Amino acid sequence: NKVVLAYSGGLDTSVILKWLQETYQCEVVTFTADIGQGEEVEPARQKALQLGIKPENIFIEDLKEEFVRDYVFPMFRANAIYEGEYLLGTSIARPLIAKRQIEIAQKVGADGVAHGATGKGNDQVRFEIAYLALNPDITVIAPWREWELNSREKLLKFAESHGIPIEKHGKKSPYSMDANLLHISYEGGILEDPWNEPEEDMWRWTNSIEEAPNEPEYITIDFEKGDPVAINGEPLSPAKLLEALNEYGKRHGIGRIDIVENRFVGMKSRGCYETPGGTILLKAHRAIESITLDREEAHEKDKLMPKYAELIYNGFWFSPEREMMQAAIDKTQENVNGTVRLKLFKGNVFVVGRKSPNSLFAPEFSTFEEDQVYNQKDAEGFIKLNALRFIIEGHVRRKK
Ligand code: ARG
Ligand code: SIN
Repeated sequence: NKVVLAYSGGLDTSVILKWLQETYQCEVVTFTADIGQGEEVEPARQKALQLGIKPENIFIEDLKEEFVRDYVFPMFRANAIYEGEYLLGTSIARPLIAKRQIEIAQKVGADGVAHGATGKGNDQVRFEIAYLALNPDITVIAPWREWELNSREKLLKFAESHGIPIEKHGKKSPYSMDANLLHISYEGGILEDPWNEPEEDMWRWTNSIEEAPNEPEYITIDFEKGDPVAINGEPLSPAKLLEALNEYGKRHGIGRIDIVENRFVGMKSRGCYETPGGTILLKAHRAIESITLDREEAHEKDKLMPKYAELIYNGFWFSPEREMMQAAIDKTQENVNGTVRLKLFKGNVFVVGRKSPNSLFAPEFSTFEEDQVYNQKDAEGFIKLNALRFIIEGHVRRKK
C-alpha cells in the first residue's frame, strides 16, 4: 500500500515520512507544493531522495496561479473575513493541497493520505474534510494524533536515529508559522500569553509603521467581474498580481493583525498575521463594489459573508453550501468592473478614487446642487409612511 504525504521537506514532515514507512510498512509518495510560501521547494526533492523515496514517488508542483485564481480570488469576491479580522490565509490554502493529494493518490494508486497538522488545530479538520469530500474511501493518517513523539526532544531523537538531517545552522523560529502568497501566520511561543506584545523582529513580511516611507504612494487596481486584473494599468496574472500587491503592502507596513480567534475544535488561540496584498485588495474590492452593486444586492451579499467565512475557516470549502453561496456571490460580480485608485501610507490603505463603465453612481441624483430629476416633495410621503407605525403607537400609548 501507498500513502501520499503532504511534505514540506522540513524536520517534522521528514520524521512523519520515516514514521509512516516504519509504522505502516507502506510506500511513501511525497507531495510538495509551491503556493508562495517563500521557500524553495526543490530542496524537498533532495531530502526525499536521501530518505529513500523513489524518484517517481516525488511530486513537486507550482500551484501559485491555481491557488490565487481558484481559491483566493473567489474568496475575495465575498470580502470574506473571519471574526471581523482574519483574512483566512491558511484556511484557504488547505483545500487546494488536499485536492492535489487526492489527485496524486488516484494517479499513483495510493489508498492513503497523510498530513503533518497537530490534533489540536484547525488544519487537521480542513485537510481531512477535504480528503473525504473528494474521496470517501481514502484512508487518512494523522501521525500527530497517533504517535508518541509528543515533545521536541523525542522528535529530535527519532530524527537522529533514522538518519534525518537536522539543520543546526540558523536558529529555529520560536513560532509555529505558515505561509503562502496570501499571508504568513505566527502562533505559539510568547504569543501564548495574549497580553504579550510580539517583538518587532517576529514580523517577516512587512515593514513596521516606523520604517515605512514618509511619502505616500498611489496605485490603481483594475477589476473585471470582481477579480483584480491589472495594477497601474499593467495586466498581471492572478499570482503575479498578488505578489505585486504584497510588495506594495510590505513597503508601507500594511496588513498586520494580532488577534485571539476561536478555533473550530473549541479553544481560543492567539495568532499574528501579515496579509499585505490581501489587505489592499479587500479595501479596493469593496470600493469597486460600492459603485457597481445595487444596495439590496450588496446588503444581502454582506449578510452571507460571515457564514461563508466560517465555512472556509472550519474546512468546508468542498461543500454544497459553500458552492451554493459562491454561485450567489459570483452572480453579484457580473458588473463589478472598473478601476480603484488607492493611496498607501504608513499602514493605511486610503481609497481616493473609483470609476466603472457599470457605475450606478448617478451624479444628477446625488448632487447637493440644483437638479432636474429628483422631486424633493416625493420624500415627504415616503418618510410619513415609514413613520406611520410610530405615529400610531405614540397616539395609542399617550391615550392610556
Ligand atoms: N490559526 C490560523 C488558522 O487556523 C493559522 C493556522 C496556521 N497553521 C499552522 N500550521 N501553523 O487558519
Ligand atoms: C496545527 O495544529 O497543526 C496548527 C494550528 C491549526 O491548525 O490551527
